[in-house]
Amino acid sequence: MQNITIEILPQGDSLETVFNPLDIQRVLQNLIINAGYVTESGGKIDIGVIRKDGAIMVSVTDKGCGIPEEVQGYLFKDSLTTKSDGNRLGLLSCKGIIEENHQGKLWFETEVGKGTTFHFTLPAHH
Ligand SMILES: Nc1ncnc2c1ncn2[C@@H]1O[C@H](COP(=O)(O)OP(=O)(O)OP(=O)(O)O)[C@@H](O)[C@H]1O
Ligand SMILES: [Mg+2]
Repeated sequence: MQNITIEILPQGDSLETVFNPLDIQRVLQNLIINAGYVTESGGKIDIGVIRKDGAIMVSVTDKGCGIPEEVQGYLFKDSLTTKSDGNRLGLLSCKGIIEENHQGKLWFETEVGKGTTFHFTLPAHH
């Protein structure tokens, strides 16, 4: 991953939330590394942070190859990897960290040939 820009774009009011920093670091690391794999040198990964329906929503967007339909169905089901050095825990554990440990949601939008966005939410802390 060389010469790739990561742009962080916060929007809206701030919101307090409580989370396990190591867990969320792991989620962000996986999403950013996944995006980096499919981003060409000189490309850019956007990270949005917005307030949505009383939650914080973080979105990681790349303009890479997209996720083929045959891979999409397995992303969160199995310890799937298409990488020779993948540790096969990536998105499955991200989903567990966000949805089971933090009561949030994690999902994606993708278009083959155009790119992918992974979103996750963390509920606001009252
Ligand atoms: N942003 C993306 N664009 C295109 N394909 C993606 C993207 N994110 C994930 N994928 C596909 O989904 C697969 C699973 O991703 P996941 O993070 O679960 O595992 P991995 O990256 O292969 O290995 P690791 O366990 O090291 O994270 C990847 O191998 C890749 O094929
Ligand atoms: Mg990964």
